[in-house]
Amino acid sequence: MQIHVGIITISDRASRGEYDDLGGPALCKAAESYGWKIVVESLVPDEKRDIQRAVREHAAKGCHLVLTTGGTGVALRDVTPEAVREIAVRELPGFGEVMRLESMKLTKNAILSRNLAVVVDKTLVLCLPGKPSGAVECLGFVVGAIPHGVEVLQEVPTNC
Ligand code: MTE
Repeated sequence: MQIHVGIITISDRASRGEYDDLGGPALCKAAESYGWKIVVESLVPDEKRDIQRAVREHAAKGCHLVLTTGGTGVALRDVTPEAVREIAVRELPGFGEVMRLESMKLTKNAILSRNLAVVVDKTLVLCLPGKPSGAVECLGFVVGAIPHGVEVLQEVPTNC
């Protein structure tokens, strides 16, 4: 099946136009390189309700996978993990574990990210760091598990 993807950039400053959203386009490029179809892209501030609304909109538009970038850090305004956990049916802890472990090989700041994966309804939501290169790196570390995870959530017959 072709995976349909939504991309959400979570950034106060980018949503106020104070700087360009570079993370969203970087994730779009990465998603297309994996053969996925970009269905919708959003840019929202670091506000829980805005994040939750965007995730739900993407799921409603048929996204099998939603990639968010930003708001996973230690700053007071970083609320992405709390926002998505509140609307999730379950969390997939292995994604965050692997993203941090692999990222530690690149930056000692890797463990400052609370990056994670959750399931909202039947949509896999992957929350990545805000730095464009960090988001693409973290996606790359866990991309291998995404097709099967999406197939299972979409109840596509699988051989496992
Ligand atoms: N992980 C990877 N692979 N590459 C990175 O550049 N940046 C780190 C961390 N994880 C980074 C990374 C830094 S500096 C921070 S502050 C945290 O991600 C959280 O980033 P966020 O608040 O922009 O989500």
